[in-house]
Amino acid sequence: MANGSVDGDVLEKIINLAKRRGFIFPSAEIYGGFRSTYDYGPLGVQLLRNVKNAWWRSMVQLRDDVVGLDAAILSPPAVWAASGHLETFTDPLVDCKKCHERWREDKIDGVCPKCGSTDFTEARAFNLMFKTQAGPVEGEGATAYLRPETAQGMFTNFNSILATSRKKPPFGIAQVGKSFRNEITPQNFVFRTREFEQMELEFFVPPAEAETWYRYWIETRYQWYLQLGIPADELRLLEHDPKDLSHYSRGTTDVEYRFPWGFDELEGIANRGDYDLTAHSNASGVKLEYFDQAANERYTPYVIEPAAGATRAMMAFLLSAYHEDEVEGEVRSVLRLHWRLAPTQIAVLPLSKKPELEGVSREVLSLLQPHYMCDYDVTQSIGRRYRRQDEVGTPLCVTVDFDSLDDRAVTVRDRDTTEQVRVPIEGLLAEISRRTAHL
Ligand code: GAP
Repeated sequence: MANGSVDGDVLEKIINLAKRRGFIFPSAEIYGGFRSTYDYGPLGVQLLRNVKNAWWRSMVQLRDDVVGLDAAILSPPAVWAASGHLETFTDPLVDCKKCHERWREDKIDGVCPKCGSTDFTEARAFNLMFKTQAGPVEGEGATAYLRPETAQGMFTNFNSILATSRKKPPFGIAQVGKSFRNEITPQNFVFRTREFEQMELEFFVPPAEAETWYRYWIETRYQWYLQLGIPADELRLLEHDPKDLSHYSRGTTDVEYRFPWGFDELEGIANRGDYDLTAHSNASGVKLEYFDQAANERYTPYVIEPAAGATRAMMAFLLSAYHEDEVEGEVRSVLRLHWRLAPTQIAVLPLSKKPELEGVSREVLSLLQPHYMCDYDVTQSIGRRYRRQDEVGTPLCVTVDFDSLDDRAVTVRDRDTTEQVRVPIEGLLAEISRRTAHL
């Protein structure tokens, strides 16, 4: 344990911590909960937002070849007919004839996980899209679907973005947002839920460059998880066997994380060829192409798609950050979250509740708040407060004590090393920037 390993069932520990400390609550709990839906509490909403912001920063802000989009969640059947989702976005379902439990046929190897029976009904196709109705009048014209992926918005807006952004291939459109799938077997906390968030890039390239960009994006996305603190031995890349590829894909590689139940998908990077633009061109009658003036040539770009789950990535970051070690003879649990992901970056802690400390403590808080996500906590002993901040992953604590009134200095404590240094209030912003600006 001294080396920071974790005893016992880490998934249980994370689920408990998430609930106890306000990261993730089961949804509608006062009504007994609603299976596979979760609410993100005060720390969870911040962590999830930080994951999405870190993705946006890397995929949009730091590049000049990607633009953003926030498309509608509701869309008409025509979009999903063209994309292939109405026809092929299905799971094969079987019912156990003995205990009547319903399963995904491809997940159970012919044996009922509940009762062991091998006697099942014929498999039926079950479409994973949530169907609803737009407006008060029922009927074919009113059918709408909640998007099962954000990707289609990038294809249907291809011409508008080409015309307004002045980008040309190779360029990408990025989107972060909710997607919905009526999963038959939602499981493993927020790993697979019916409502979740995706972070997707559709990167449009000249067909001859598709393979190079496919490899580029596999490497770039793999590095993103490493840079945000997931160790290399908890990640791997897995290229799909050509016979297992989705209907649109010419090649797919998954970034996998070592979840407690084994390696499993975090993100898929696919070479979608010209499948999507061609399908929407044919179905809508609107050409979705690029005219290359220099070559005097019109072509349908190929698409390289890195498609990640924000909620799933958040779960991986939580699992990976969770450690137990020993500090001053006591076991502590600590989330070693990356500086960019930590829900609270700095906790300002007056040593005592005494009113003398409040003025200077609030001055320090006001100095830091415009730049960093801060917490202010005056309850309980300072040792208990450090543990509480460690447990939710706060990288730095700034403690204000009675000496601060005279020397105008505070103590900065580091979550990972527990080292403490005295820093003048005047130099505090510079000190924090020195420690974190490169992250
Ligand atoms: N546009 C391609 C696409 O949506 P996908 O592999 O079906 O590809 C991409 O989804 C990512 O979205 C997955 O790697 C996963 O991280 C996340 N994801 C998919 N279904 C999910 C679910 N039911 N719950 C949580 N995350 C999910």
